[in-house]
Amino acid sequence: MTSLAFLPVFDRQGRFSALKAAVLIAVILPGLWIGWRLAAGQMGAKPITAALHETGLWSVRLLLVTLLVTPLRALTWQNRLLQVRRMLGVSALAYALIHLGLYVFDLKFDLVKVASEIILRFYLTIGFAALMAMAAMGATSFDSSIRRLGAERWNRLHSLIYPLALLTLWHGALQSKIDASEHIVMTGLLLALMGARILRRQGKLTPLWLLGLAGVTAMATSLVEYAWYALATGLPAGRVFAANLMLELAPRPAHIAGMLALTLPLVAWTAPWFSSAPKSRYSGTRQRGVTG
Ligand code: HEM
Repeated sequence: MTSLAFLPVFDRQGRFSALKAAVLIAVILPGLWIGWRLAAGQMGAKPITAALHETGLWSVRLLLVTLLVTPLRALTWQNRLLQVRRMLGVSALAYALIHLGLYVFDLKFDLVKVASEIILRFYLTIGFAALMAMAAMGATSFDSSIRRLGAERWNRLHSLIYPLALLTLWHGALQSKIDASEHIVMTGLLLALMGARILRRQGKLTPLWLLGLAGVTAMATSLVEYAWYALATGLPAGRVFAANLMLELAPRPAHIAGMLALTLPLVAWTAPWFSSAPKSRYSGTRQRGVTG
């Protein structure tokens, strides 16, 4: 085991963790898939741009999955989920760094040009700001940093993850003017996760509140979509909004975000069948210490 000790697949007691191993494989696979298609020339006419887009998307997806860990842990009382939160966050940072590396490669390592583009192009400026915030979180993701900063300050720094995720979604969406569907779905899910955080803090992480949250998520997503089309494109936002009511046009981003948010009340309902969580677990689910 000692020769493999550098692999992040062992728990604090030095035992092999199947959960950590599975998550490690899951976060590496998209990168391998992108790398393999790049090497095989299967990324289209502009392979670096395509890889830039895919690594950016994976970074945001992993950020959202990182944010899902805390509510899932509160609902299931599976503390071992916390073992993978850091790994997920660090992988989101790794994909963002590869994303930046691809951009630098695309500009032929002309760092002056990279810096001036970041200063002059708004979508790059917010991407850079988001990357700096992610790097600060990555650098303080170690136990020693938590001890040094104290749980309260560490939590405050790491709650930056929500505005950070919003920035990255804005940065990404600005690149996909006409079809920003995935960014709109992800914005809806981010709002759902923020809602779950508020419910958790108020001790209201119950199936019923979470069911309400799924409904609010669907509505909020349709409003985000409306605002996006009204403000960022010349398309008729009202017609896009009305499309949410036409079943033949389903699934729309609001439907997808609402359905995905429904998994939270489902987990809340079913978790007691599988765990030994105390019956009163919905009240006061926020615990002292590092909560992320
Ligand atoms: C200095 C930092 C960054 C730079 C220079 C940068 C650069 C870029 C560029 C050049 C594009 C699109 C290019 C095009 O099609 O013209 C892009 C898109 C994107 N970036 Fe970044 N980015 C940065 C940070 C980030 C971060 C931190 C994230 C996520 C955590 C991110 C996520 C995305 C996403 C999701 C897209 C759109 C992908 C799509 O919709 O297909 N970027 N970025």
